[in-house]
Amino acid sequence: MKNDSSSSRRKFLQHIGATSILAAAAPLSSLATNAKAEERLLSYERKTSANDKIRLGVIGYGVQGHFDLNAALKVPGVELAGICDLYTGRIENAKELHGKGLFTTINYKELLDRKDIDAVFICTTDCWHARITLDALAKGKHVYCEKPMVYQISEGYPVIAAAKKSGKVVQVGSQRVSSIGYAKAKELLAAGEIGKLNMVNAVYDRQSSIGAWQYTIPKDANALTTNWDTFIEATEKMAFDAKKFFWWRAFKEVGTGVAGDLFVHLLSGTHFITNSKGPESIYSTGQFSYWKDGRNLPDVMSGVMQYPDSKEHEAFQLTLQVNFISGTGGQEVIRLIGSEGIIEVNGSNLTVKHSLMPQAPGFGGYDSLFTFSKSMQAEMQKEYEAKWTAEQRKRKTKEDIIFKALEGYNDHLDHITNFFDAIRANKPVVEDAQFGFRAAAPALACNESYLSKKIVRWDPESMKLT
Ligand SMILES: NC(=O)c1ccc[n+]([C@@H]2O[C@H](COP(=O)([O-])OP(=O)(O)OC[C@H]3O[C@@H](n4cnc5c(N)ncnc54)[C@H](O)[C@@H]3O)[C@@H](O)[C@H]2O)c1
Repeated sequence: MKNDSSSSRRKFLQHIGATSILAAAAPLSSLATNAKAEERLLSYERKTSANDKIRLGVIGYGVQGHFDLNAALKVPGVELAGICDLYTGRIENAKELHGKGLFTTINYKELLDRKDIDAVFICTTDCWHARITLDALAKGKHVYCEKPMVYQISEGYPVIAAAKKSGKVVQVGSQRVSSIGYAKAKELLAAGEIGKLNMVNAVYDRQSSIGAWQYTIPKDANALTTNWDTFIEATEKMAFDAKKFFWWRAFKEVGTGVAGDLFVHLLSGTHFITNSKGPESIYSTGQFSYWKDGRNLPDVMSGVMQYPDSKEHEAFQLTLQVNFISGTGGQEVIRLIGSEGIIEVNGSNLTVKHSLMPQAPGFGGYDSLFTFSKSMQAEMQKEYEAKWTAEQRKRKTKEDIIFKALEGYNDHLDHITNFFDAIRANKPVVEDAQFGFRAAAPALACNESYLSKKIVRWDPESMKLT
């Protein structure tokens, strides 16, 4: 892979396909710390198809609703047509940012009834995702739904079926699957750069109150300003609780904890890079380590998943980790470990390191040999040297490589562009409902496993609990 030949470049382009990213890996420099390492820049071009106008409605205008909309408005031809949110302060904020004339509502069905809206972003609390997706598809809208696609595993099939029946585009919002770095990792893995994959370690650690979801709660938060009675229509009847509205991720009644929030990113990334359909067994354990703020889902959690032999890949294991009080200061990394090396993916950058076994088996050193009689040692040494050449006894080396995305590169914009391109060109998205569910279901199964202390069995092909 060192010299990115035009044929491997072509191969990469094929892999990237629908995302319209072009990648070249231009050598940057040798690294001073390691004479063998090379650094390469992942460059790309973002292409958008014809600028036909697409009118967009946003449902759920909290933090991610803002980010998703801002990205969408960078895509040529996309126009904002309306915003829906339950909290009155966010409706005010929508008008302040986009003009008094903007259509706003607290009832998402009014937004879906509008004929001038082609597509919707669903950026609500997780417990609403499936219900709004079904309603939006029934009204003929294209849907970009934030991750996790569903709040409960049982909601997955109806969403997949509705997406299929509607013929509309459905993209799930795990933007990392559109990352140029993930595409490069996928290409390197498929090319055998690290030998046979046997283990993936995926980590998403944080160390801050905001990282642990303690977002600022507005002073006017109450049952009226949040339209609490509507909010809980998707879940159980509960008395107003500002934390359950604004820190919803930490509460199982409305959110999906670190598993639905962050494991799902690690799972979608792993599935994209390995082409996997998912694991067959899922075990998870959690603890309440630090954020004793009433939350009822853990702030430290690990998952272990077994991926079976399949036509996409040979068996491998996945370990997942989220630590919200991590003395690392925070990290997000997927480590793909193979028989001949490791690909470490950090955001849109990655490093490749190799370690190759010698052809000859080990002999001497930390071995039982020295415990034998001198004559036995000598005889066996002679035989070993006669059988294996010096070359066969040596570990071969292969250069490390660092790939970096261009400064300012934005996978989120690529993911959102991919959604609008799919609508315009009637082509598949990177993360359709099946892909979204195949990442969401094992993530949600981690909560089930943690709560029941049992291994969850899953059929990744049929997407059913077994
Ligand atoms: N892709 C990513 O990297 C990423 C990052 C952050 C959040 N997210 C996802 O985005 C979604 C929103 O997260 P957030 O951080 O913006 O949360 P948030 O609490 O800031 O915003 C959620 C908004 O949804 C609104 N809402 C809830 N139910 C509604 C309903 N029935 N109708 C209309 N509005 C409703 C709430 O009023 C709130 O303003 C979640 O699913 C989350 O997992 C994705």
